[in-house]
Parts: sequence; C-alpha cells; structure tokens
Amino acid sequence: MKEAAKDSYQQSWQGRERAQKYEQRADLVLPKRQEMLSLIVQLIPFERDEPLRVLDLGTGTGIPAQRVLQDFPGANVICVDKSAEMLEIGCAKLAEHGDRVRFVRADLEDPAWNNGLLDRFDAIVSALAFNLLTDGAKQRLFAQCYEMLEPHGCLVFSDRLRAANGAVDRFYLDQWMDFIVRQTREVLGKEVTLETATTRQRSLDEAAGVKSATLEDILAWLKQAGFAQVACYWKYFQWAIFGASKVC
Ligand SMILES: C[S@@+](CC[C@H](N)C(=O)[O-])C[C@H]1O[C@@H](n2cnc3c(N)ncnc32)[C@H](O)[C@@H]1O
Repeated sequence: MKEAAKDSYQQSWQGRERAQKYEQRADLVLPKRQEMLSLIVQLIPFERDEPLRVLDLGTGTGIPAQRVLQDFPGANVICVDKSAEMLEIGCAKLAEHGDRVRFVRADLEDPAWNNGLLDRFDAIVSALAFNLLTDGAKQRLFAQCYEMLEPHGCLVFSDRLRAANGAVDRFYLDQWMDFIVRQTREVLGKEVTLETATTRQRSLDEAAGVKSATLEDILAWLKQAGFAQVACYWKYFQWAIFGASKVC
C-alpha cells in the first residue's frame, strides 16, 4: 500500500465514517464476536452485584464495557481508546449508564497513557485491540496492568493471534476469509471471491498496523509481568481469549 493511502487509512481509525462503519460491520466480518464478548464478561470472576472497578482498553465504541455495565449492575467502567470518533459513538451509546462509565482518550503506545488514571481496578478487559500494539507496547501494557490491578484482580482479553507456523497462519486466514465470503453472500446478498477478500483483508491489516503475537509469546509476557496464573480460556482458529490473575 502506498504511504499516502496508508496514512489516510490510519487516520480513518480516527474518522467518523470508519467508526460508524465498524459499529455496523463488526459482527458481519468477525467470526464469533458476540460469543467472545459474552465470554470476556463471564470470565470476570466476581459476583454480579459487587461494586467493581473495570478498565476497558481499546474500547472502540464502548465494547465490551457495555456488557460489563449490563451484567454487573454495581460496576463502574473506564473506557480507553485513542480514537475520538469511536469514543464519541460509545459515549452516546452508553449515556444511559450515567457516571458509571467514563471515556478517556489515550494512546496505549504512549508509556504515560495511564497518567491520571489513579484508580486501581478489579478487572481489566480488552476486545480485539491488543494486536494493534507493537510487541514492546504489549509487554509494557501487561506490566502496567499488573500494577493497576488489585491483588485479587484479573485481566481478560480477546485478541487475534499469529500462528507460530506460517502455513497454519495461512490456514487461519483462509478460514476467516471463507467466513467473510459466506457472510457477504448470506447477509448482504453480494458475491466476493476468496482472492478478493484476502487481498482486501491484507491491505486493511497493513494499513491498520495489525501486529498479532503468538499465544506462546502472550502467555510468556503475562508471566514476565508478574502474573501468577495465566491461561488461554478459549480459542477458535486465530481468535483467542486469554487472561491472568495475580494470585493462583
Ligand atoms: C478492532 S477495534 C475493537 C474495538 C472494541 N474493543 C470492539 O471489540 O469492538 C480496535 C480499537 O483499538 C483502538 N486502538 C488501536 N490502537 C490503539 C492505541 N494505540 N491506543 C488506544 N486505542 C487503540 C482503535 O481505535 C479501535 O477502537
């Protein structure tokens, strides 16, 4: 992709049109997205009525914060994202929850992204945003999460992985593109070939700066950050939900 096109795509993460499109299309193009969101919330190991403090990183349009607010009526959630437009949509969508939810614009690549977030948290969640960070930022983020969590706290992230083996990675991509081809036909009534879908996805990934890590690296980084218990709870091809807690 040419540099100008790349710049404009990256800026479009910040753009209103892109933000609205994401909101409309995410379920169409991301397999098992709702299942992953439900599981993230189910994997938060607290009683429903506890007064939890939850942090949602790369929240986009307020997801999975919305699920947390619904399923934990005593929870307060802080939502972090670098895109003003995504946050704007999330803010309008979650307005009914009043001061139980707060939106913070910050870039997780910035080591000081959490300055001013003085709270400690019971749970830190994230859905499909971790793969957009560099490996250095990923590792720093885990260390920061460790510091920001209460001793009984937990981290639950969903993410898109990279397979350690290139052939398996290609297989994962084929499975996903096959899903997109079927969804495009069944939901939109349009035909797209596997090749076109693959070319388009590669271009989108490059422009968005997808930098997926392997599950092995992620679990090792969580351990290095100090977490006593780390685990992959769920996996479907390249999609996974992993987590960590400070105590076993
Ligand atoms: C694929 S969307 C996922 C949004 C939401 N969590 C969901 O599940 O629908 C990725 C989000 O990560 C955000 N993001 C990407 N890089 C980021 C960064 N460095 N700092 C903060 N947010 C970032 C994007 O703005 C976008 O809203």
